[in-house]
Amino acid sequence: MAFKVTLVSTSPIDGQKPGTSGLRKKVKVFKQPNYLENFVQATFNALTPEKVKGATLVVSGDGRYYSKDAVQIIIKMAAANGVRRVWVGKNTLMSTPAVSAVIRERSGADGSKATGAFILTASHNPGGPTEDFGIKYNMENGGPAPESITDKIYENTKTIKEYPIAEDLPNVDVSAIGVTSFEGPEGKFDVEVFDSADDYVKLMKSIFGFESIRKLLSSPKFTFCYDALHGVAGAYAHRIFVEELGAQESALLNCVPKEDFGGGHPDPNLTYAKELVARMGLGKSDTGGEPPEFGAAADGDADRNMILGKRFFVTPSDSVAIIAANAIEAIPYFSSGLKGVARSMPTSAALDVVAKSLNLKFFEVPTGWKFFGNLMDAGMCSVCGEESFGTGSDHIREKDGIWAVLAWMSILAHKNKDSIDGDTKLVTVEDIVRQHWATYGRHYYTRYDYENVDAGKAKELMEHLVKLQSSIPEVNKIVKGIRSDVANVSSADEFEYKDPVDGSISKHQGIRYLFEDGSRLVFRLSGTGSEGATIRLYIEQYEKDASKIGRESQEALSPLVDIALKLSKMEEFTGRSAPTVIT
Ligand code: G6P
Ligand code: ZN
Repeated sequence: MAFKVTLVSTSPIDGQKPGTSGLRKKVKVFKQPNYLENFVQATFNALTPEKVKGATLVVSGDGRYYSKDAVQIIIKMAAANGVRRVWVGKNTLMSTPAVSAVIRERSGADGSKATGAFILTASHNPGGPTEDFGIKYNMENGGPAPESITDKIYENTKTIKEYPIAEDLPNVDVSAIGVTSFEGPEGKFDVEVFDSADDYVKLMKSIFGFESIRKLLSSPKFTFCYDALHGVAGAYAHRIFVEELGAQESALLNCVPKEDFGGGHPDPNLTYAKELVARMGLGKSDTGGEPPEFGAAADGDADRNMILGKRFFVTPSDSVAIIAANAIEAIPYFSSGLKGVARSMPTSAALDVVAKSLNLKFFEVPTGWKFFGNLMDAGMCSVCGEESFGTGSDHIREKDGIWAVLAWMSILAHKNKDSIDGDTKLVTVEDIVRQHWATYGRHYYTRYDYENVDAGKAKELMEHLVKLQSSIPEVNKIVKGIRSDVANVSSADEFEYKDPVDGSISKHQGIRYLFEDGSRLVFRLSGTGSEGATIRLYIEQYEKDASKIGRESQEALSPLVDIALKLSKMEEFTGRSAPTVIT
């Protein structure tokens, strides 16, 4: 079928600056005339011509509301820009990690490879007509576009005058697997709809020992529950956990992807993954019955994960440290060793201790997965993670929610390999974590989020904290006035990172107060919100003494919390007496 190309005049629209992970706005903002089109064209114009003309692009996402319309618009614009083919996940569904895997691994029937992707997601933000939509561009390494590209995209959105579009191209049926071919002024244009679960499952099988996980799952001692929070993880969960690994259907909770995530907030934490939390015996209301031994959840686009044991929460900072400590023995992909490990700055230092003890290369990077990607491309990092429920490895260039669950299952399978058949007690998630603390010490950790705060006030609070840093003796005077039972602040700064691979420098990546005993207070403004500002406060304390590692984390951290709130004048600046979410 032939199509024509029309040039549509447009003008710049304010506020199209991509955040930590692309452009995220309310659906009604995206639905404004030319809003999506301007951003898509600004992206095409920011790429080198060979990444557009004749190229293969992936377009898909977490299936949130407006994705179906957006996919058709992007297909028409890709056709008009001379793209050769577009790969779309069935029903527009493709998890963020699966997109990364598809870019890196998939070959078309004629050997074609994708050089980039538009991922349609606002990750863990709610979806629906009155909620968020989002779009981000990933590069040919499978990772998010670097700042040099996102800056260019933003600059282009400020000067855009027109975009080409194939208006008469019929909508492609994204529910049917297969190729539809068109003929444009520059030649052939194909749209291929496929099921990315095939590629993703293949990759997971090349990393983990599915046989040993299958054996774990078949044991009556081991029970499991997975909550996709109605996000796109559901499209992979049945295939992997039930079909490949033999889990019960009843192990899957909220695994049907929905445009509005069932009205929920698809963020896997103790506040939003309510059903799972209750099932795991961690909620306020008891669901009755014995909780499963292992529980996990994913966010809307399936790159985040939460790991739970029976009545037990594993902090993401501990999770990455435990995965790194056990990877070589428990996960075939890592059997020949780890190239290095990395964490984001606000993530606790649990990983640092493992790296030191195992003599691994270690990196501390700013928040945002793209920083890990550079290290991985350079062969310097195998396992990395963030406090924000992201964990992953160099198998792709995004964090990977299902990978993290399989990593934990592999560790559980490994620790139970001799006991799974006999009468011996199961080594539980909690046992593994407590054993880890006993070996490496424990990093008590908590995060306070103040969501939707007035942006001006949030900025003032941050400026106040930076100003305070000019005199450490003054800071210590204030600190001691609040609590005399904490260590001295030894230094304070704004985190700055020089990328060891490309030498680029990222400034203002969070305000740190570092204490003599290794405790830390970190303050950051979120880069992923869509309205107002979100202040994040991260609080951490290291305890090496084995007799003191079993305390309740909120109780152990209360002196530092007290100091952080008073030092920052949180209530004064924000008018909030309590955070929106505590994790
Ligand atoms: C996204 C990124 C993560 C990052 C997180 C930070 O999920 O992919 O790499 O850690 O955002 O979010 P924040 O809201 O704290 O900027
Ligand atoms: Zn996400």
